[in-house]
Amino acid sequence: MSVNTVSRFNNLAITLHWVMAVLIIGMLGVGKYMVGLDEADPQRFVLTQWHKTFGILILLLTVFRLVWRLTHRSPAHPAAAPRWERFASSISHFLLYALLLAAPVTGWMLVSVSPLNIDTLLFNVIPWPHLPWLHNLADKASMIHQYEDFHEWATGALIALLLLHIAAALKHHFVDKDTVLKRMLPSSAAGTGTTMANFVVLLSAGIGGLLFAYTSLNAGGDNLSSGASDVSAMATIMGESTAIQFSGSQVTASINVDSPESGSLLATVPTASVTSSNLQVQGALPDTEWFDSENYPEAVFESTQISAAGDGQLNVEGTLAIKEITLPHTFTLQVQDTDGNKTASGEFIVDRMAYQLGMESQPTDEYVGKAVTIKFNFELLSKP
Ligand code: HEM
Repeated sequence: MSVNTVSRFNNLAITLHWVMAVLIIGMLGVGKYMVGLDEADPQRFVLTQWHKTFGILILLLTVFRLVWRLTHRSPAHPAAAPRWERFASSISHFLLYALLLAAPVTGWMLVSVSPLNIDTLLFNVIPWPHLPWLHNLADKASMIHQYEDFHEWATGALIALLLLHIAAALKHHFVDKDTVLKRMLPSSAAGTGTTMANFVVLLSAGIGGLLFAYTSLNAGGDNLSSGASDVSAMATIMGESTAIQFSGSQVTASINVDSPESGSLLATVPTASVTSSNLQVQGALPDTEWFDSENYPEAVFESTQISAAGDGQLNVEGTLAIKEITLPHTFTLQVQDTDGNKTASGEFIVDRMAYQLGMESQPTDEYVGKAVTIKFNFELLSKP
């Protein structure tokens, strides 16, 4: 095993430093690029998934590196360096570690409060949990912008400090002409030849990982987000099937058909928008005993899990909230492709009595059936 000498960093420290440098600079670039894309752009969804994977990887590597740093000796400051420079160096290295933790942790916090509830699957395989105390907050949707700001500030500060760090390393090398940069560079001198080999292998692995992420972006993973949507319901009233329409519903879907597990679906339906061919029904539905539209303007479906069900079908599990009642539902989402125009449709049955709808005037299913079929379809915008 290699020992950290007083004059140089050892193989592991050097390798970690440069692999992380590539990853962090890549993450900063990808992060800025993806937030510039349209929210509905499927590429933004895919990039965000890879951004989360590499961000968590950086978090784990930083914790490892910090433990390593605290348990090993580092080379001393150059003897000729003035006191202020030694002090600035120690402070900026401390801040670098702090920001290398803050950048991924604020990202993790941000996805934990996201109302889209998109799971984090590292490399599309390993589930990574949301931070439970944030994820379970009732009003988390209102906090998302604040957490986006935290992540932007942490990563902005990291960019500033990295520029200072690079400038300082170059000053040592070209102006002071000391060994500060060299002792963090792999050396192929006799006896340390393996350092260079390790370095090349691991740096290639880091770059390979990034290339893999990039190529998978263009590998036809059919990534979809939602466009126009249509929600209706079918109820049995006085023995007759009666259609009920809602207008202005909004579906936010991010689904990659190849790996639907990391997808999400959120649908909000304005309850006051209800219309029906049966005008009596139309007039009554926004009332207190039915949708109580004044106090509960929206009914919301939110997915908790999406999985492949074969034949262009996805199995969607989630919850539907109507008024103060939230119940679980599962349905099959059918994805259709007509001449390149993709649509998704599905339906599921709800028990209106379980949602306490119309229990004063229609407490039994004699006139108004208890089973109501919710039907919906929405346009899916594919990657161009
Ligand atoms: C060292 C690690 C990380 C770096 C350097 C980094 C960097 C960035 C940057 C520069 C942005 C753009 C910020 C802006 O200008 O608005 C960004 C956005 C984002 N990051 Fe990170 N990030 C890291 C880790 C993470 C992690 C671990 C996660 C989640 C698990 C994450 C999730 C996100 C998300 C969701 C956005 C988009 C926010 C939005 O849509 O406004 N990041 N990241």
